[in-house]
Amino acid sequence: MTATAKDHWHPVLDSQVLKDKPVGVKVWNSEIVLFRTAGGKVSALEDRCPHRSMRLSKGWVENDKIVCPYHLWKYDGEGKGQSPCNPQMKPRVQRYDVTERYGAVWVKPAESNAQMPEMEVEGYHYVGLDTGIMYAPFELVVDNFIEIEHSPTNHGVFAFDAQGITQVVPKVETVGDSIHVIYEGDQRNIPWYSPTQYFMPQNTRLIIDFMAHFRPVHFIYNMRWQDPKTQELKPHRIREFAFLTPVSEEETHIHLFFFSTLNLFSPQSFSPLRKLVSSRFLKMAHDEFNLDKNIVEEVARTDKRTDLKGLQLGKFDRVLRETRRLISSAYHQGPLEQQAPPEPVQLKATGTTGAQD
Ligand code: FES
Ligand SMILES: [Fe+2]
Repeated sequence: MTATAKDHWHPVLDSQVLKDKPVGVKVWNSEIVLFRTAGGKVSALEDRCPHRSMRLSKGWVENDKIVCPYHLWKYDGEGKGQSPCNPQMKPRVQRYDVTERYGAVWVKPAESNAQMPEMEVEGYHYVGLDTGIMYAPFELVVDNFIEIEHSPTNHGVFAFDAQGITQVVPKVETVGDSIHVIYEGDQRNIPWYSPTQYFMPQNTRLIIDFMAHFRPVHFIYNMRWQDPKTQELKPHRIREFAFLTPVSEEETHIHLFFFSTLNLFSPQSFSPLRKLVSSRFLKMAHDEFNLDKNIVEEVARTDKRTDLKGLQLGKFDRVLRETRRLISSAYHQGPLEQQAPPEPVQLKATGTTGAQD
């Protein structure tokens, strides 16, 4: 068995988008149709009718079956079909495992025994899910999520101060098949009149401590703020789970799940205010995402190569080589069973490589 993108659970759609009409999604060029039965159950099948290759996502749902719009053959959630004009036939469509968690629809191939990634959120309240698309190769999107040097120029709030970034020393360590990264620096100043101040305490040190996992590729960011004089941590923390789903060589989908320690987001809090603040937070997060999207897509238009050859890499970019290795291991090659986990490697935290490999 070889490791490919298809071996992992990936979030593919905001659950709220899947209503009574089928929706087509893609994971690494595999086209999948999602549909919700009248009873609310979600199913996932290959998005191609085995009769004459019509796209099933162009069809509709009748009770617990999806109907192909070309000749009205129907398929249940297991992929078992029936043909009105050929009742003796037993057509079949490949099915996928599917589940709904944390406000998203997730899929994996039925033959894979991958574990669903767990989100450890004790002490946190769910704020919401933000989704987006970057028209860029997977590796270029991953690069943007793992380095922070762009934050003063390209972010409004989840960011370090422009001067402060020069003082940030990235701490990067490979742990098995994951990477642990810590960035610490001055929180960027936000105008006093901005409600965003409520989430990002001012005159503090921002500590972004995160793990990058690769089966599937996702980042677990822990954001904390520290009083620079007393070293005391502010009570408010944000935890963000960023899942990157490779769609094709030129398209990557992103699902961002946000959690906060603020009691305001507790299900017990005053609901209208919670909804208002959650939507404000998600709007802010989406604006931040769009800033990244613009820059990553611009890079992709300039150069789609992902191999780092000829690039002059700085201290924040050292980690990119490691991400290439781990993406390759988890998504492009195998066999999984024969791979021994690598020894933890301490990467140097400072200096520039200036390497042109
Ligand atoms: S192509 Fe789907 S029923 Fe004919
Ligand atoms: Fe960014």
